[in-house]
Amino acid sequence: MSSVKEEISKAQGLISHGVYVISTVYQGRANALTAAWVARASFVPPLVTVSVGKPRFSHDMIRDAGIFAINILGPEDMAIGKHFGLKTGRKTDKFEGVRYETKATGAPVLIECAAWLDCKVVSSHDAGDHTLFIGEVLEAGVRRQGAKPLIYERENFFK
Ligand SMILES: Cc1cc2nc3c(=O)[nH]c(=O)nc-3n(C[C@H](O)[C@H](O)[C@H](O)COP(=O)(O)O)c2cc1C
Repeated sequence: MSSVKEEISKAQGLISHGVYVISTVYQGRANALTAAWVARASFVPPLVTVSVGKPRFSHDMIRDAGIFAINILGPEDMAIGKHFGLKTGRKTDKFEGVRYETKATGAPVLIECAAWLDCKVVSSHDAGDHTLFIGEVLEAGVRRQGAKPLIYERENFFK
């Protein structure tokens, strides 16, 4: 029989997510992490939330920079999700060789993504071992018309 903790974990595993690359730049240093825990939060103003683990290198960068971009991945972008999600930028430059541009906030916006949202942090909330950053979307764009999002499936990233 499974424990309550196991059941909570299994049930939470059935919450569906896309896969996103959350990028930022702080004091001239660009970095990004892959995140699945991303959601819309408000129509007016347009708000989104991103849940970032406190030990992530990106965590303090987003907190201190007060900006981030959400790069929305499509099914063809699995390698990008792995690139930003399976190693830390603490000692390596994950943007080396990665094409990007900057928009309103200056956070890196990937050339290879389905769509992007450029955000400024309007508040942040302590959420256990994560921080929930709420961002107001200042600018956005769709790169691939009719694009489908990459749906998060654990076995595609963690075996
Ligand atoms: C598909 C996928 C989804 C992830 N989702 C999240 C997430 O929602 N929040 C988070 O903090 N980390 C998430 N991670 C883990 C970070 O991307 C990973 O720890 C990354 O190496 C952190 O990079 P950084 O230390 O350069 O910030 C995810 C990883 C993968 C592969």
